[in-house]
Amino acid sequence: MSIAISPEVAERLRGFEAPERLGFGSVMAPVMFRAVYQDGCWSGGELIPYGPLQIDPAAKVLHYAQTCFEGMKAYRRVDGSIGLFRPEKNARRMAYSARRLCMPEIPEGMFLEAVRCVTAYCAYLIPAASGESLYLRPLLIGTQPDLSVSASNIYEFYVIASPSEAYHSGNMRVWIERDDTRAALGGTGDAKVGGNYAASLQSVAQLKARGYDQSLWLSPSDRKQIEELSGMNFFAVIDGQLHTPKLSGSILEGVTRDSLIELAGTLGYRVHEREMDIDDLLALIGSGTCSEAFACGTAAIISPISVIGDAGHSVSLPQVPGPVSTALRSALLDIQEGRAEDPFGWMQQV
Ligand code: COI
Repeated sequence: MSIAISPEVAERLRGFEAPERLGFGSVMAPVMFRAVYQDGCWSGGELIPYGPLQIDPAAKVLHYAQTCFEGMKAYRRVDGSIGLFRPEKNARRMAYSARRLCMPEIPEGMFLEAVRCVTAYCAYLIPAASGESLYLRPLLIGTQPDLSVSASNIYEFYVIASPSEAYHSGNMRVWIERDDTRAALGGTGDAKVGGNYAASLQSVAQLKARGYDQSLWLSPSDRKQIEELSGMNFFAVIDGQLHTPKLSGSILEGVTRDSLIELAGTLGYRVHEREMDIDDLLALIGSGTCSEAFACGTAAIISPISVIGDAGHSVSLPQVPGPVSTALRSALLDIQEGRAEDPFGWMQQV
């Protein structure tokens, strides 16, 4: 690694023991990467002990939400090596998100080096069970203390890491959100920015009280077309073929979504990226023409949906994972965890 560590960081790494049950995103690796942008350029970056940030209460991020992030994973592979999955896709999406919020891009080389550095030093924390991994969270915040509504001129870039299980394990109950929208037309829905997630929280809190897990978001213009779940993309299996909402400008272009579209072809499934009317889908589920629906994302991998709830009536899907989502999940994890060839060149060894 070209990023050296201090004796304090080495001590932190030596002293850390992960608990037996990991959950998702609640156990934090003891170190993190940090770089600062000031006077128009980035510092080289360093690995520091994980811990609370010191931040001015007037920092732009705290008032005007100038923040974007990424979600990506490092895997322990069956041959003992450690692999990152398509990290350059995350680097490019983070650059897009940064531009959208008028923040400086993280140079791709620095982004990849930071992620590799955290992964390499935390490799001993990567769980070995299938579906588990080191979840990595690159994060960019505008920290200039100034209350005028304008872009910050100081930024901090962090990469934190969390040895984790999958975010959802299946039997996901989703609720159709027919009132609020997650993103606006011309807004930030296709960028990975904190505000999109904040906008989803009220809906999620309400549906949780009714026994559901996730909101199914509809098009902001007319609330008719399916967009995505909060933090996951949506797929349905209709007549044995895969259908997913086409990117609309307010849907996040998921790395897992993109990978499944490519992978499905090699497994013999046709994929349709199209507008998906929610009421048509409910009718197709009712008639049995739509046999499976699932959520996908870096954190969630593939999580089959068992119920789609609606104010009028709810529809049920099989309570056990269907054959298409099972085949795709296995094929994806086989590449990520090194049980299968990687014909796409997706994995990067650390
Ligand atoms: C991811 O899948 O990495 C995400 O960022 C979704 C998150 C909300 C758990």
